[in-house]
Amino acid sequence: MKLEILPFEKKHLDIAANLLLHRIEKIRKKINWFAPDLNSKAEARKAVEMEFTKDLSTGVIASVDDQMVAYMIGYIYPGGVFERSAWVQLAGYGGQEKCFREMYSFLAKDWISDRCFLHEIMVPSLNRELLELWYSLSFGQEQIYGVLDFKELGVPQPLNIEIREAKDEDRLIVRQLAVTNVIHQTRSPVFAPVSSEYLDQVRNSYEEAIDDQEIFLFLGFHESEPAGYQVYYPAQPALHSPPKTICLPAAGVVNKMRGKGIGTQMTSYCLNWLKEKGYNYCLTDWRSTNLLSSKFWPKNGFKPIIYRLSRRIHPDAGTANYDD
Ligand SMILES: CC(C)(COP(=O)(O)OP(=O)(O)OC[C@H]1O[C@@H](n2cnc3c(N)ncnc32)[C@H](O)[C@@H]1OP(=O)(O)O)[C@@H](O)C(=O)NCCC(=O)NCCS
Repeated sequence: MKLEILPFEKKHLDIAANLLLHRIEKIRKKINWFAPDLNSKAEARKAVEMEFTKDLSTGVIASVDDQMVAYMIGYIYPGGVFERSAWVQLAGYGGQEKCFREMYSFLAKDWISDRCFLHEIMVPSLNRELLELWYSLSFGQEQIYGVLDFKELGVPQPLNIEIREAKDEDRLIVRQLAVTNVIHQTRSPVFAPVSSEYLDQVRNSYEEAIDDQEIFLFLGFHESEPAGYQVYYPAQPALHSPPKTICLPAAGVVNKMRGKGIGTQMTSYCLNWLKEKGYNYCLTDWRSTNLLSSKFWPKNGFKPIIYRLSRRIHPDAGTANYDD
């Protein structure tokens, strides 16, 4: 068997589209709604092309005995809100998994030359073998994307708090509550690096959300005291997002009021309200190192769909140039 790793070119798009479709069909055996907008070769080709034409994107194919059997495309996010990092999205790879390590090796060499030391890949959480493959390349779980099917949503819980949408006069309360989640994530064992500028950005964006008709921002009050918040907006089309999905990007309960059922009541109230509005699913994501959320969301019915795996490489890597 002759295995070659070669640069991805436009001429490879058709075969890559077939490989992606095949992968999606396999995933659909376990998650029947997966990739709702990818049902034809043309749609799959568009999805691969989107990865290939992103800024700072590079790709490879694996060829066995002169036949293309797999592809992998990643891109460098140059830095900004998050740190500089290389990403492989769900549509960015397909084909024979036994070639994935070699393809990653090829891409990683270029990323390290470009001084990109944090590598991220999205992997379906039910594919144990594929996860093991990435773990063997020193990737670890960082973020979990979970979906709740509203068919499995229980009836609304009895409330001992007041829950309502944020109003104009709630601006100060929203600014105060908005950072509860982020501050929690600076602590052990998450250790997210959060600057005071970022905290201000979060406060401002949630305050702006009050006026945004596309965003539902709920507040919870316990004995008239602000206790928690949850924010929702319609999900963008994505492979891991079924039709009619509402996205829950953030939620928090103030530190001293946690563990008293406030988060559970807010989740039950808001999701039942959104179900009434016509949504069928809710998508959220959490750090696997966040001990509170990683217990809370599965307990509230969210089933993991995708893991984002990450690998951090020492910044001195790639500088050695020894002869052997
Ligand atoms: C995650 C979070 C929103 C949950 O809210 P919460 O109000 O603490 O959650 P609840 O009190 O409803 O449930 C948490 C626990 O309290 C228990 N509980 C529920 N009702 C209770 C009650 N009346 N009395 C005592 N405990 C109760 C729950 O069973 C649950 O227990 P478990 O952890 O053993 O499963 C909250 O902990 C939080 O803000 N965490 C920090 C920020 C964060 O992680 N946000 C999510 C980011 S993705």
